[in-house]
Amino acid sequence: MILTFKRIISSRRTITYFIAAGLFSWLYVLVRITFFTRSPYDLDSDLERRLAGSRTAHKSSRGINKNPTRHTPILLKPLPPIAPHLRWPPNIDEMLCRPKIYVYPDPPAIQEVYKRVPPVHTPYIAEHILLEQLRDPSSGAYKSYVTSNPEEADFFYIPFLGARYLNHCWFILGEKGDCDVDGQYVLPMMRYIQQELPYWNRTWGQDHLMVHPMDRTSLYYQQKDIMQNATFLTTSGDLRPLAPSVVGSRRYKNIVIPSATTILNLVKIDPLQYLTSSGHPKHKRRDIFVLFSGRYKDVQPDDVYSAGIRSLLLNGFDRQADYVIASGWGPEKYAKLLSRARYGLVPMGHTLGTTRLWECIAFGVVPVIIADGIVEPFEDDIDWASFSIKIRRDDAHRLDKILRAIPEEQYQKMQKRVWEYGRRVLLTRDSWHLIVRDLCRRRHLEGKRTIDRDNHVDLTNSFMIIQS
Ligand SMILES: *[C@@H]1O[C@H](CO)[C@@H](O)[C@H](O)[C@H]1NC(C)=O
Ligand SMILES: *[C@@H]1O[C@H](CO)[C@@H](O)[C@H](O)[C@H]1NC(C)=O
Repeated sequence: MILTFKRIISSRRTITYFIAAGLFSWLYVLVRITFFTRSPYDLDSDLERRLAGSRTAHKSSRGINKNPTRHTPILLKPLPPIAPHLRWPPNIDEMLCRPKIYVYPDPPAIQEVYKRVPPVHTPYIAEHILLEQLRDPSSGAYKSYVTSNPEEADFFYIPFLGARYLNHCWFILGEKGDCDVDGQYVLPMMRYIQQELPYWNRTWGQDHLMVHPMDRTSLYYQQKDIMQNATFLTTSGDLRPLAPSVVGSRRYKNIVIPSATTILNLVKIDPLQYLTSSGHPKHKRRDIFVLFSGRYKDVQPDDVYSAGIRSLLLNGFDRQADYVIASGWGPEKYAKLLSRARYGLVPMGHTLGTTRLWECIAFGVVPVIIADGIVEPFEDDIDWASFSIKIRRDDAHRLDKILRAIPEEQYQKMQKRVWEYGRRVLLTRDSWHLIVRDLCRRRHLEGKRTIDRDNHVDLTNSFMIIQS
């Protein structure tokens, strides 16, 4: 029996059978793997067929879909409006809360300083404008928020005008450096607030506000540490980790505000001299495609200044027929040009924010912002994307292509939106109202008894359910 088995196994024909069977299974496995294994991208066959049929964009698709326009969307209208509480941006005419702000008087020592240091004509006067509004009994800000009784105040406003002191010293007296601003101005101001009155120490300054309207915010002062606990209202918001100002590291402490500009706040040109009430030029069309005024001629691609972006303007853009680019013009001419421009270029300079943004907005020019990492004022409330264009630095060389690809209808929409909505963000419009909305969101408001919470909406915690 065993012998018979051995003979069968060793017979030649059996060996051939074994080899053939082996070859066959190897071939079978190969064919299976090559042709019948599903790739992780395969979908079910109906969907595969539909996708194959839709590949009309590829010229090589051998005409699978003969009628590419067959499946146009049925709804040609936007979706119906949704309930106000589900909508963003919010209605900024409503208050989130109504805090009371106490404005400190100018300390006696500071009044003496002001006798020597009159206000100067520089664009860094956001500090002056915001303070004036709080001190003007006829202003909306005064009527809505100011209290003369510090005991009932939720916030305390320090009437700090450091830019006035420094600008006077730099531009009128022609001095350089810090002009002893700490000894002459910062210390007398802060000593009064921190040592003569009890309110700073109650929260170690957390509920105190002050404006820093220049590029480097509080870094002009040796004594900056004594003011760090206050909330700074600053004119540039910057998310970069090593930003030249301290703003970057105080994202949730500072409030970004619009800045004042020479033509709007010093020369006080009224855009309505040049534009109709609906924001169109009175005598011409908007025939300037792109407008830019500012420093660019000496900028190299690898400069820190403007991250090299402004070097691109030299590089061909300034020779396009419908681009108007120059180092600057007198206020009248600049205003005329703004009233005829479609897009205004707003590339970063020393900081991410620049005052020409506000000039564009005031004249109904759609701003084209090139400043990666910028935080615009009131981003929680204002839909910036609806009236401005952002181009990344890496795409800035394609600026012309990007702008010319924008359909006319979309441009018109944005232009209307700058005029009817964007202008509300200008410094002299609703600034206090918008600043207060930001203040209302601050945690340290919790437990303040005087805040009117009539308009408070409780957030549902459904987002937490999704996460768990
Ligand atoms: C507030 O605290 C500082 C530091 O502790 C102190 O020097 C100052 O006198 C205090 N101010 C008041 C009004 O008590
Ligand atoms: C800032 O606040 C901290 C506590 O958060 C406090 O220790 C410090 O003294 C405060 N600085 C000033 C100048 O009030």
